[in-house]
Amino acid sequence: MTRMQAWLFLAQLPVVGALWLPALAQQFGKTENLAPYIPSPQVVVDKMLEAARVKPGELLYDLGSGDGRIVITAAQKFSARAVGVELSPELCRAATARVKSLGLEERVHIIHGNLLKVDLSPADVVTLYLLTTSNDRLRPNLEKYLKPGARVVSNDFQVRGWQASEVVKVNAGGLTHTIYVYEIGRER
Ligand SMILES: C[S@@+](CC[C@H](N)C(=O)[O-])C[C@H]1O[C@@H](n2cnc3c(N)ncnc32)[C@H](O)[C@@H]1O
Repeated sequence: MTRMQAWLFLAQLPVVGALWLPALAQQFGKTENLAPYIPSPQVVVDKMLEAARVKPGELLYDLGSGDGRIVITAAQKFSARAVGVELSPELCRAATARVKSLGLEERVHIIHGNLLKVDLSPADVVTLYLLTTSNDRLRPNLEKYLKPGARVVSNDFQVRGWQASEVVKVNAGGLTHTIYVYEIGRER
């Protein structure tokens, strides 16, 4: 069980749920907050980008980019260009500061906004660590915007209704993460 799965499990328990539900309703309803902030372990990030076969110069979008670790790794280790989209202003500020301190401003941009409102047509690769229900909401945009051959890689949560071209298991800190890889044009 990963930290995200443990978080979801706890939120379902009656007592914890009673405490969490109002906060959840606010978080996941009105404010369009589609997932809690739980960063992907670095070993999982590396494996996601490897599995996506990210090539130098390609453009990657991380939807819900947290502290920016995926977009930063895409630029540093894979020589890609990358855009992170993040709802939390604090996380955006932290990620932007890290990008600047690493001198990656030319290749990595952090957008403060709602990932459901982003035009994804320039993307070669999209990375996700959201929830299955959030992926359900995002799927129409992925189908509308992404070009044939673009890859979508999701940590732990499937895109329902799509057929993964590859499923990779990664151990991180005693927990097993499952990475789902999809290729546009071959996902259905
Ligand atoms: C599980 S974390 C993943 C962070 C990062 N992608 C990683 O794998 O380390 C999910 C992130 O999505 C962000 N998020 C949730 N809803 C969002 C939305 N509607 N638009 C943009 N970001 C959102 C959260 O603030 C959180 O930082």
